[in-house]
Amino acid sequence: MKRVVILASGNGTNAQALMHKARELKNVEVVGVLSDHSNAGVLSKAQELNVKTVSIEKETTKEVHEEKIFHQLEIWKPDWILLAGYMRILSKNFVSKYPKRIINIHPSLLPKYPGLNAYEQAFNSGDKESGISIHYVDEGMDTGELILQKSFERLEEDSLNEFKERGLQLEHQMYQEILEWIANGKL
Ligand code: GAR
Repeated sequence: MKRVVILASGNGTNAQALMHKARELKNVEVVGVLSDHSNAGVLSKAQELNVKTVSIEKETTKEVHEEKIFHQLEIWKPDWILLAGYMRILSKNFVSKYPKRIINIHPSLLPKYPGLNAYEQAFNSGDKESGISIHYVDEGMDTGELILQKSFERLEEDSLNEFKERGLQLEHQMYQEILEWIANGKL
């Protein structure tokens, strides 16, 4: 059984898609969801699906915060850590504890538009297509080695919300595909 932990900061629609998919798959289990915000929507979504949750808010330094996260991960013992809208950059020290075992999803065709507000940046750029990237995490901001990238069209008549919604649907499909790869040992 492959053990997966999800780190998320917000609403948690990607985490939800992953947890649903994990229920269908035999050899993979989401053993916990960890958020850096105690009021994040992702926590209730996980609880509804009987997945364990922990919130660890940043109090003092990044170092202390990551130590607390690491302590929780030592309890959950993940084989894989999936970042699903986790809005912090992990330190080199943290990343080195899980080499090629931390994956992130980002809503742009990286290396375009790393960091925050990627949908807005892509939407405002006038690019005719945008996309979603899934990549291994290193200590940089959305810089790790790409695993999967897919594009979607930006329609002339799109509002920002419509554009984001189309992107999010693709995010969920792609992250579910990655979970299948994990389950099948393809990663
Ligand atoms: C998603 O669009 C995800 O790609 C993005 O945050 C959103 C979280 O949505 N992540 C980043 O921008 C990371 N740099 P969700 O909470 O509904 O899954």
